[in-house]
Amino acid sequence: MPDTDLDQLQRDLLAAIEASAGVDALEAVRVHALGKQGAVTALLKSLGAMTPERRLVDGPPIQALREAAAAAVAARKAALEAAALDARLASERVDMTLPVDTGPVGSVHPVSQVMDELAEIFADLGFAVATGPEIEDDWHNFTALNIPETHPARAMHDTFYVVPSPLRGRGKSREAAKGEGQYEVPSSPGQPLSPTLSPEGEREQKMLLRTHTSPVQIRAMLAAGGSQPIRLIAPGRTYRSDSDATHTPMFHQVEGLVIDRGITLGHLKWTLETFLKAFFEREDIVLRLRPSYFPFTEPSAEVDVGYTLEKGKRVIGGSGDGWLEVLGSGMVHRKVLEAGGYDPAEWQGFAFGCGIDRLAMLKYGIDDLRAFFDGDARWLRHYGFAALDVPTLSGGVSS
Ligand code: DAH
Repeated sequence: MPDTDLDQLQRDLLAAIEASAGVDALEAVRVHALGKQGAVTALLKSLGAMTPERRLVDGPPIQALREAAAAAVAARKAALEAAALDARLASERVDMTLPVDTGPVGSVHPVSQVMDELAEIFADLGFAVATGPEIEDDWHNFTALNIPETHPARAMHDTFYVVPSPLRGRGKSREAAKGEGQYEVPSSPGQPLSPTLSPEGEREQKMLLRTHTSPVQIRAMLAAGGSQPIRLIAPGRTYRSDSDATHTPMFHQVEGLVIDRGITLGHLKWTLETFLKAFFEREDIVLRLRPSYFPFTEPSAEVDVGYTLEKGKRVIGGSGDGWLEVLGSGMVHRKVLEAGGYDPAEWQGFAFGCGIDRLAMLKYGIDDLRAFFDGDARWLRHYGFAALDVPTLSGGVSS
């Protein structure tokens, strides 16, 4: 295209690019010049029909024109986009002073709060937190804890037994399963849900809802292989068939277990005293260890804390006015050590068990246990704790 004035075309194009007021206008100019039907594209296409000699002369200025146009489009595009962003930033300012609607905010249940406080306090004493299954077998819940089949303590625990379905996973009819001497599901409502063992009497088949957190002691000892010291607490849900103002079928306990060489009752007393002072956040906590009986400890002691009456209310601390029972404890029975795989000639230990719900009631002045598990949001708003306030020993465990 010898008759096209390349310089003029370039001047016109660059002026149009520079003059385009928006991205759309710029795009129209780009298509007009560099698009399939564009003027510059047509010039480039004409190179194909030229003789090689001619192309050597006309080619470079046409290429230069294309490059200049493309560069100008890119520069103008960047400038237009930057200007658009500046305009948006100027117009869409965030007003930080406007009130925020946060919506409903949850709170931490007192039981969860107390569990966190316990974990914090015992972590400071070098205790780990352990857990165990809530559906437990008879052996871990009773037998290994020195509560044999005929022991009266079993009756005291009001156990919920779990009766496995005779059909589950067997692909057989109920009648066929019964015929093989599997579990019988009691038919009348009044009948106790105590499972009948298969003739082989497989102990692991007899399942129940754990009646206390003590089976975690056995599980922890077996896991430690009878050869390592143990220091743990085990908080969690426990179950007994019992219901009134101070008992619910599901409740919470925390177990404590220390196994080492040379452990004495002195270690137990110091640990409990340190724990209760930190928990109730008072230095004037007075403990009373009362001789008691638990099958899994020997000797055993129930632990009371003293209270003082202030304007007719019981306040934990001092010992002027009376005692409140808070936990059971003792030195781990040698049979329990043996069941856990520890040699009682070498290893000693202490243990304790404590109702978490009761601890929460005593510390936070809540009187009806049943309200804990009603799920009433108003109750939670009143007794709950701020979600992000993590208990710390330095900041106050219940701050
Ligand atoms: N497991 C007992 C209960 O539920 C509480 C208990 C007492 C636990 C003494 C212990 C202990 O570890 O040493 O009543």
